[in-house]
Amino acid sequence: MSQWPELEKKYYMSTFKRLPVVLVRGQGTRLWDDSDKEYLDFTAGWAVDCLGHCHPAQVSALAEQGRTLWHVSNQFYTVPQLQLAELLVKHSCLDRVFFCNSGAEANEGAVKLARKYGKLKLGGAYEVITALDSFHGRTLAMVAATGQRKFQEPYTPLPIGFINLPYNDISAMKQATTSHTCAIMLELVQGESGVNFPAPDYFKQVRAWCDEKGILLILDEVQTGIGRLGTLFGYQQFGVEPDIITLAKGLGGGFPIGAFMCKERAHAFSPGDHGSTFAGSPLACAVGYATLKFLIDHNMPEKARCTGEYLLERLN
Ligand SMILES: Cc1ncc(COP(=O)(O)O)c(C=O)c1O
Repeated sequence: MSQWPELEKKYYMSTFKRLPVVLVRGQGTRLWDDSDKEYLDFTAGWAVDCLGHCHPAQVSALAEQGRTLWHVSNQFYTVPQLQLAELLVKHSCLDRVFFCNSGAEANEGAVKLARKYGKLKLGGAYEVITALDSFHGRTLAMVAATGQRKFQEPYTPLPIGFINLPYNDISAMKQATTSHTCAIMLELVQGESGVNFPAPDYFKQVRAWCDEKGILLILDEVQTGIGRLGTLFGYQQFGVEPDIITLAKGLGGGFPIGAFMCKERAHAFSPGDHGSTFAGSPLACAVGYATLKFLIDHNMPEKARCTGEYLLERLN
């Protein structure tokens, strides 16, 4: 081993359980370590590198944007941000976008939007129902949303306003819904406690329940979105339309960017309600646009579906 793990031990906070590999280079599906050993990458940076490593479309978009406009604040309009917003809206059932920098931040934004909706439309309702064994990110509120004790224990007391219930249990959800509930937030397929698929019709039942109660359905598509389930957005396979979705990971295909999107009727924000210095930066959005455009133009979600089916069959 090289000197890098020693440096990590000395200087980095002890948070990651790392494998003893120092990666220095990537191309397509391959990675190389610091002794030039080659690896076939089955991890894709935790479901991020949807076009592989250093894809020419992304590299040239980043280089071109880097030569043109690097960063300005959201006091101004910028072209890549609006191009990416339009592309996302045109290919989804959602009407509006807000960009951020990670999945946790996207979920925070979605919950803030749902709370604002609760204030305006539901008499101050603020509670969000989430699932046990879920994963929604590492900010304090998202740790409270994430229904796993191991992530919550070190940080108690947690922010209030989240109820964690068994996944796939519609009657538990109905029982827990009160006049305080403003939204239900779920992953379409849970990916952090195994790979947990929903029961057939579960999401149709959840959607019907949200409609009956007038509350919002938030789908955390940080992992299932951007082609991962074989359609551009995961919800397209479940016969439901969410009020809000959250995205990150594959959206930038390796460049940090997240987003939450909503239907017009759920758009409760007014100017000043939400913001971020780096939200929708030209660099992030230029790479996001190149990634998404390539994915759509080359029908990559369909290829993911076929390859997924083939792999599953052969592995079985
Ligand atoms: C479903 C889901 N939501 C949210 C997150 C958090 O995203 P990030 O690590 O970008 O904050 C993850 C990350 O693994 C995730 O899988």
